Formats: sequence, structure tokens, C-alpha cells
Amino acid sequence: MDKVIIFDTTLRDGEQAAGASLNAQEKLEIARQLDRLGVDVIEAGFPASSPGDFEAVRLIAQEVRRPIICALASANTEAVDRAWESSKGAAHPRIHVFLSASDIQLSYQLKKSRDEILSMSREMVAHAKSYLDDVEFSPMDATRAEPAYIYQILEAVIDAGATTVNIPDTVGYITPPEFRDLIKGILTQVPNIRKAVLSVHCHNDLGLAAANSLEAIIAGARQIECTVNGIGERAGNASLEEIVMALKTRQDFFGVTTRINTTQVYRTSRLVSELTGFSIQANKAIIGENAFRHQSGIHQDGVLKKAITYEIMDPRSIGIPSSTLVLSKLSGRHAFKERLAELGYTLSEEALNHAFQGFKDLADKKREITDRDIQSLVAEELRTTTELYHLDHVEVSCGDHSLPTATVRLISPDGQGLADAALGTGPVDAVYEAINRIVGIPNKLTEFTIKSITEGIDAIGEVLIRIESDGITYTGRGAATDIIVASAKAYMNALNRLLAAKRDSSDVKT
Ligand code: KIV
Ligand code: ZN
Repeated sequence: MDKVIIFDTTLRDGEQAAGASLNAQEKLEIARQLDRLGVDVIEAGFPASSPGDFEAVRLIAQEVRRPIICALASANTEAVDRAWESSKGAAHPRIHVFLSASDIQLSYQLKKSRDEILSMSREMVAHAKSYLDDVEFSPMDATRAEPAYIYQILEAVIDAGATTVNIPDTVGYITPPEFRDLIKGILTQVPNIRKAVLSVHCHNDLGLAAANSLEAIIAGARQIECTVNGIGERAGNASLEEIVMALKTRQDFFGVTTRINTTQVYRTSRLVSELTGFSIQANKAIIGENAFRHQSGIHQDGVLKKAITYEIMDPRSIGIPSSTLVLSKLSGRHAFKERLAELGYTLSEEALNHAFQGFKDLADKKREITDRDIQSLVAEELRTTTELYHLDHVEVSCGDHSLPTATVRLISPDGQGLADAALGTGPVDAVYEAINRIVGIPNKLTEFTIKSITEGIDAIGEVLIRIESDGITYTGRGAATDIIVASAKAYMNALNRLLAAKRDSSDVKT
């Protein structure tokens, strides 16, 4: 049957979501899981935007061998060169060049004529083509551009060697019937269109990203760009799980398939949520907590008699576990490793040993260790692999008749132990003040959330915080059975991301 190519851009457009910065190890874990999920293409980053992005693309290209590894590049020689340098080690590399195409962006942002854009597009595709065969081109903001101009650009870049042409609805503006007409127009008006794969890339500003992508498939597009959990710039991108499950559940209607192993959908979604710090809304289609919960008595009655009465998908088909396996302090390293593999993690020996130690420490405090506990432990492990400052010790004194006081010791990037103490309005504030005295990087705390990740008084507490510096948001997470320690870890995590971004200060996002 006709196959639709699933192009995952969680690690590139998804990471452009405000506050969603991932370190290279976290990106690699997600890329490995995307491989298990069966995506055809992984857009691993925008190498020219920062040294961190460059390094992550290079690492993924080396380690993840089955899918195509795509590197994004703006339409200039240096960006295309960086994209090639970072992705050339991949078994199947791709360079994705983009350039604005709407008159709005041409006149207000780039201050260039249509002719200039046309030749830049052609030249940069030809330049990418000098390195490799697999080249994609996107005329940015295509849905607000004049269709005839888009046809002209597509014809030119296909002539220059583009093997995939992608139509981005960059600002999530178009509606499904209009998008269908645009895709059909391209398929009939661009003379050489059959020499390339036609792709779409929809944003969700009006909540139409999945609908527009599906409409494009009906009209003849055969590559969909999407992200896990729909994360991405502003309101996000088309959500991978919605597209894939719509195509699978309504195969009778769409008549196409994908290569996705849908039983990996749930696991992938949890991993991305855990590592990006973006929780999934309860009523989110396919992967939300309530997506398969039935509240009304009539519905419950129906589902008990025959699930199909109120369920259009089998929760097992997306890999929702029917029961949660529990480990305890009697479980050995082997059982722990097996469980990690089942949950989709591939840790290095060193990280595994460290995580196993964390598991043992936790098992001393907590009778039963669930999958959520393990995921939280591993996320903690991945967070600390690339940190600059490490939290070595935290101690607080507080109560209803004492001044909240905290003492902390951090290990600096050059291995020095740095200790300080501070008072605060409460214990968490005191800890943050003490850390600030050491790290000394101005920022504003904009969000602080604490939740218990499993039930029970001995549960792990997970803290999510967001801090802002120079208008950029950084997310931090920390987990521990002690919520003050979890809060300290979360702050260190956000500060480390902030420091890493400042270090890679050539940051220029799309
Ligand atoms: O939304 C957009 O236009 C993009 C391009 C870089 C493809 O993300
Ligand atoms: Zn985008």
C-alpha cells in the first residue's frame, strides 16, 4: 500500500518550543527511541544555530544508523557547510535548506526581491547537492505566499537537485480546504514535481495542524513533518501520534500506511515529556491520561461489554501498559537493566551503574519501584551528564519559629568545591539564594511546580521550574524523595541549561 514518510522534527522544531532545551545526551536518547518507533527521517537539529546543536546532530548521525538523519540549514553557504559537516557521518544523511517565500517576510524581514530569493534557493540547493544526494527544500511561510511563486520556486529547486520539497504552514494560518487546493495546485502546476517527494509541515496556531496534514495526504503529499506530543515553535507542530493513529485507525478512508511501530507511541511520548519538561494535557488525543478513560456510567457499561462500543483504538496498539511492573530492593542489576531496555533506554555502562546506584538508594526508601520511578531516575541521570555546576550538598533549617536557612555546596566546572549559605522566605527560597550567591547569574523564576510522580507517602517528588534570562526561558527538572533536594536539583538543571546556552552564545534560531 502507498506509504507516507514520517519526518520527525521533535529535536529541531520541537526543541524550538520556549523552554525546551535538551542536552546532547537527552537528544540522543530521544533519537534512539524515534528509531525504535520507526520514523523514516529524524531532523536532528540546526547545526549552524549553535555549537550544541552541531554536536547533537553529529552524535546522532554517528549513533543512529537506520533512519535518515537530517540537518537543517538556512540558505547561506556557511549554514549548508555546517549542516554537511555535522551530518556527513550518518548512514543516510539529508540536508534541509529553507528560505522565506512570502511577500510579507521578503519585504519586512529579508528586504529581498522574489528574484533574489529564487536564485538563492536554487544556488543553496545546488550547493547542498554538491555534498550529497538527499536534499530537501522548504519555501518558508509558503501558505501566505502567492501560489504561482511557490510553483516557480519548487520547479527551480527540483531542477537544482532537491529530492524532497516541503510546504511549511509556518504560522499555522491555512485551513484544510485551502491547503488541499494548494497541494493539488503544486501537483498539477509544477512540471517536474514527480521527481521529488512532496512534503508538508504544519503548525498548530489555529489547532489545525493535524487536520491540514491529513488533508495534504488526501491531496497527494507523501511526507509529513511532525513532532512527538505536538511540541514546537509557539503552539507547536502537527502531532506525530495524531497523524499516525488517524492514518492507522481510518486506513479504510485514507488508504495509506506508515512504517511506524505504533506500540512504541506511548513510550516515546512519555520520554519526550520527561526530558523536555512539557507535561501532556490530560485530554490530549491518543496519549493524554484521559484518552482511554471512561467516566460516564453508560460508556463504562458499554466498554465492559465490548470495548469497541466506545473505543475506536485499542490502548495496547499504542503501547499503553495494561499493568505496571514493580521492582524492589531485592531486584538485581540485570532486572533493572532489562526494565530500562523495555522502557526504551540504552545507557552507557557508566550511566547504567550510576542509575542502578540511584535505584538501590531509592529502594532503601521506597518499598516498590514503578516504571515512573525508573523513568524519573534515568531522566535525572541524563540531566546530570553534561552539567557544568554539580549540586554536591544541600542542607536546610526551617520551621514555624526559625528563619529558613540553607547551606549548599556545588562542584564548579573546574572541579572546585564551592560552598555558601543564605536566608530565605522559605526553605526553597533560601536554597536558591545560596546557589545564586555561588553561580551569580541573574535570572527570574517564572514557574515552580511540584508533584508526586507516584502515589504513596514515600513517593518521589518531581519539581519543574522555569527561569528567564535575557527574555529566554530555561526549564529545569529535579526528582528526589526529599522535595527540597528535588527543588535544588531542578534549579541547578535550569541554571546549567542557561549557562550552556550562554557558552554557545552564537545561538540563532529559525
Ligand atoms: O515552520 C517552518 O517554516 C519551519 C521551516 C524551517 C521548515 O520550521
Ligand atoms: Zn516549523
